[in-house]
Amino acid sequence: IEKGIDLKKEINRLRKEKNAVILAHYYQNGELQDIADFVGDSLALAQWAAKTDARILVMCGVHFMGETAKILCPDKKVIVPDLNAGCSLADSCEAGAFSRFVADHPDYTVISYVNTSAAVKAVTDVVVTSSNARQIVESFPENEKIIFGPDRNLGNYINSITGRNMMLWDGACHVHEQFSLQKIVDLKDEHPGALLLAHPECRKTILMLADKIGSTAALLKFASQSEADCFIVATESGILHEMQKQNPNKVFIPAPPEDSTCACNECNFMRLNTLEKLYLSLKYELPEINVEKEIAERALLPIRRMLDISA
Ligand code: 13P
Ligand code: SF4
Repeated sequence: IEKGIDLKKEINRLRKEKNAVILAHYYQNGELQDIADFVGDSLALAQWAAKTDARILVMCGVHFMGETAKILCPDKKVIVPDLNAGCSLADSCEAGAFSRFVADHPDYTVISYVNTSAAVKAVTDVVVTSSNARQIVESFPENEKIIFGPDRNLGNYINSITGRNMMLWDGACHVHEQFSLQKIVDLKDEHPGALLLAHPECRKTILMLADKIGSTAALLKFASQSEADCFIVATESGILHEMQKQNPNKVFIPAPPEDSTCACNECNFMRLNTLEKLYLSLKYELPEINVEKEIAERALLPIRRMLDISA
């Protein structure tokens, strides 16, 4: 990077010059959220990607978010500032093993969380995000046989609120699985009246204690509309940036991880993206996301189906 360069000014110049839009997930660091054209949860990012007419789409998020955008807009250049921004949850569902499991259960409908590779989506009937999982599961008849993957916590939660008995893939997210129940209980004692906000990827014990369970966007909306003035937030701590911005007089406490020596409530994959890498990716139009044509065509169908149901 050139010495003394004003990164924000250069990013603004490049995005105009190149007809690029910058999308950011709520788990990105604050300066990436602030410079983005649009910040959202994974459903909103996919919806936005589907309708933009920009030439280049820079996805400040993780690989599967870039892949989803590319599948929706195959003619656009889709860039993720750091291609190593993966996802432990997507990695917990290897495409070959999942495909064999699906093939062994031909009479099952396959519902996959958006946090999956394109190859997993290619053997899926309908994709869901944490925003619309309940609505999409309930759009099927009660006796529908369903395979739900890969997040076991989200799957268990949806089973519990819908009364379904979906067969679950045994995957999980390393960030959402490490919140400490005991430390959250202690925090609740210290801050009587504080509400616990939890993402459905958290373990069942945390969800049982939660006052609100929802996607990042749903938790944000709840925090802004609630009368309460103190919240313990059990999801990736990047969301606190927008929560605090929208509610300067409320207190937001990140839920503590079991291991107090690490910043484990930050997603190490999401946080690989930085302002410097965003600048370089816009300048060189790299690293680009590409999806094999045949997989992309098959994966598009369940993504479109999701967008149609949640429109
Ligand atoms: P959202 O669907 O709430 O954006 O969550 C995405 C994610 O990666 C959760 O860990
Ligand atoms: Fe994946 Fe978890 Fe990071 Fe979300 S927080 S991107 S599910 S590893």
